[in-house]
Amino acid sequence: MDSGQVKRMTTRIIGTGSYVPEQIVTNDDLAAIVETNDEWIRSRTGIGQRRIATVESTSYMAARAAERALENSGVKAEEIDLILLATSSPDFCFPNGACEVQGLLGAVNAACFDISAACTGFVYALNTAHAFISSGMYRTALVIGADVLSKLIDWTDRSTCVLFGDGAGAAVVRADETGIIASNMHSEGSKGSVLTCGSRTNGNFLLGKKPELGYMTMDGQEVFKFAVKRVPQCITEVLEAGGISPEAVDHFAVHQANYRIIESIAKRLKVSIDRFPVNMEHYGNTSGASVPILLDEMNRGGLLKPGDKVVLSGFGAGLTWGALLLEW
Ligand code: UT7
Repeated sequence: MDSGQVKRMTTRIIGTGSYVPEQIVTNDDLAAIVETNDEWIRSRTGIGQRRIATVESTSYMAARAAERALENSGVKAEEIDLILLATSSPDFCFPNGACEVQGLLGAVNAACFDISAACTGFVYALNTAHAFISSGMYRTALVIGADVLSKLIDWTDRSTCVLFGDGAGAAVVRADETGIIASNMHSEGSKGSVLTCGSRTNGNFLLGKKPELGYMTMDGQEVFKFAVKRVPQCITEVLEAGGISPEAVDHFAVHQANYRIIESIAKRLKVSIDRFPVNMEHYGNTSGASVPILLDEMNRGGLLKPGDKVVLSGFGAGLTWGALLLEW
């Protein structure tokens, strides 16, 4: 380069990987334990089956997805400077799941921490890795979304138990001249009560009881309304920041919670639904894993071509939501 101009570095996804548990649970299987049926679940959500972890832990699945992403990128584990694990269902309170993944991979040079932003977790984690990389602090990062929500679900509550599945997805990202063009993250803590998991009740010797972890609770319709309003907003925001019209985007990889939500987002953006790849029929809502599992399928399926404009977007508990626009 002789012009004396220094190109600004951004963050590029250079490899993807994913892992889902072996055990398939169909809608008919669930109809045997709660009052529901395949027709209701498919027509209201687009979900046909999900994978449920029986022996797989969050960190195990995260590490398997990460191994595949490393292999896909050609990067060695020792080259990773940072591991971010987006999860709401870590195996332990501590050590954090990213450290467990580090141990399983032998990524001895990485700093490791978890990010808690529920179904927006991967978008938050990718944004966070991007901030570290753009600042020059790190060059190569492993960004993972992994959840085993099946251990946090009330399996007698038909309004939630039919929606979720377990899994993990990962991306290796590196400093480069092309990649992420624009990004955003949003939160609205005052609306947190519409989707919660865990207990505010203390358990200690003074109270004479043990701590208890509560199950997930959700106001489905409120989450639905939130998603169809906020996701088009944050996607529009990221497209405006990148100077790109919705029609110029090749693929929208949006959190796989409900097909009707995706239809509504496509309609609001005035973009054909064909630009929104979906896989919730096979996996259900895998929370923090949903966007990277989808991205890995798009990558391995040959859908993503160099130069393609891709939008990633997530939404979920917090409330949290956000989007990234990138060039593949
Ligand atoms: O990552 C973010 C996580 N959360 C979400 O994305 C959830 C967003 N919300 C949704 O996807 C939808 O609101 C649901 C799929 C959860 C529910 O769909 P809906 O069209 O909003 O249904 P509804 O809650 O209005 O319920 C309609 C009926 C009710 O019966 P009544 O009162 O009309 O007699 C429910 O009791 O469907 C009943 N119902 C079910 N019926 C069969 C609720 N769950 C089930 C079920 N099977 N599993």
